[in-house]
Amino acid sequence: MRTLHLLFAAFCVVANAAHAVSNISATQSEVMNKLLATYAESAKVEFKEQNGRGAVSDKPFSAEVGRKFFLARRTWQSHDYTCSGCHTNDPTKVGRHIETKKAIDPLAPSKNAERFTNFEKVETNFKKHCLDLYERDCTAYEKGNFISYLMSVK
Ligand code: HEC
Repeated sequence: MRTLHLLFAAFCVVANAAHAVSNISATQSEVMNKLLATYAESAKVEFKEQNGRGAVSDKPFSAEVGRKFFLARRTWQSHDYTCSGCHTNDPTKVGRHIETKKAIDPLAPSKNAERFTNFEKVETNFKKHCLDLYERDCTAYEKGNFISYLMSVK
């Protein structure tokens, strides 16, 4: 019964997020909802395993927490690193790779129909960029918040 409740709660969060932006394609909304549901399950496990320490939480995903994560700076060897360094502070804008200087299409699904159309590709990108920035994969909680944020961006 508890599991059912949790599943229903997760469904409501997902359904609300999907309504936040109307101009994303059916495929994008399907992939992003699948990501959210997967991360929600993993976030529960992480929270148990890490006993609430670090970048985990048992709170529902939050677009605002996701926005802060996107803008957060990590200083390493006196350089500042942030997701927005390559993707800009605004996910609706075209980014620029800090090293190769190549243009990066917007991350916001409302502005880029190619984004979030492939579950595995998202996971690969997440892992790569999280390793670049944090020298670890991001937690499911961080990823879920970030996806919620991108879904809310018009
Ligand atoms: C050094 C530059 C750089 C940094 C820093 C960076 N990214 Fe990226 N990111 C890219 C590039 C380049 C792409 C485009 C890859 C593509 O289109 O295949 C991308 C694409 C993505 C995608 C696209 C997924 C999809 O399916 O289209 C996600 C999600 C993402 N980044 C998340 C992040 C997060 C979260 C951070 C911060 C932890 C971050 N990135 C930091 C360069 C960067």
